[in-house]
Amino acid sequence: MSVLEQLITKLPKTELHLHIEGTLEPEMVMALAARNGISMPYATSQELAAKYEFGNLQEFLDLYYQATAVLVVEQDFYDLTWAYLLRCQEDNVVHTEIFFDPQSHTDRGVSFETVVKGITRALEDAREKLNIESKLIMCFLRHLPESSALATWEEAQPWLSLIDGVGLDSSERDFPPSLFERVFAKAREKGLKVVAHAGEEGPSDYIVQALDLLQVDRIDHGVRITEDDALMDRVAQEKVALTVCPLSNTKLCVYDDMAKHPIFTLLDRGLRVMVNSDDPAYFGGYVNENYRALVTSLNPSSEQIIQLVRNSILASFMSDELKAHWL
Ligand code: ADE
Ligand code: ZN
Repeated sequence: MSVLEQLITKLPKTELHLHIEGTLEPEMVMALAARNGISMPYATSQELAAKYEFGNLQEFLDLYYQATAVLVVEQDFYDLTWAYLLRCQEDNVVHTEIFFDPQSHTDRGVSFETVVKGITRALEDAREKLNIESKLIMCFLRHLPESSALATWEEAQPWLSLIDGVGLDSSERDFPPSLFERVFAKAREKGLKVVAHAGEEGPSDYIVQALDLLQVDRIDHGVRITEDDALMDRVAQEKVALTVCPLSNTKLCVYDDMAKHPIFTLLDRGLRVMVNSDDPAYFGGYVNENYRALVTSLNPSSEQIIQLVRNSILASFMSDELKAHWL
């Protein structure tokens, strides 16, 4: 094992950009479909996995939302989350901040309660049995109208003690952050953390909107910031984190080659970037695999790898005491 490989494997890591529905492996899709009596347009998990070639974000999202249909009862959400947490243990991820998309379930008639109870029961078990800490972030789907986000916010009220933050995800182009100003203001008023996907496929102006209108604590992806020099300076100075997802960006054709990924350019310019897996079941690997892909294509130094890991701790929503422990 190379020195860098050892470093990646051994360092305790945090993950800050992970959609729990994006950890639904093809084998689990088929197993849950059988368990819940749901027919899928694929005969085997191999047949499903063969579809995982995406030309852009929307092509991925179409399949991702289709697969979530197999998640029906609380135990399904528990099993999904627990399987991801076991992968965290393998990768030495000690703290993870998980997104979930309530609207993709409630729109199918699955209750908010079912989703949140299944996920949080697994998070609680991981705290006790695996020593893995976590935060939970509820995302609004930006391709749906503001009224749906506001209704979801109301549905979440009885469960707010289990939810640490809100986010914004789904189809980015033509759905600017400005559409969700009011629901984000409500979340901030309640003291929740706020994050938003911006500058993944959409223009760098969406990063500005997320900062100025939604007043986010972090930007998810944000790689298109490279198109705006002044914004890079601002984000570096304000220490706003960008939760970068390398394998996602190549799998969704934001970059046609990992060698063109700007993560180390951004890091060396002083931006708080780090490595995350986004939707690992679809993009070819969990967090360590993302680090390995960077090593293979971009030949970073061990100092750069260590800085990425430190940035992830610094940008997390864990307590200052825990940050000090892991740093
Ligand atoms: N939902 C799940 N993964 C996503 C991504 N990479 N971008 C936007 N929405 C998502
Ligand atoms: Zn994402």
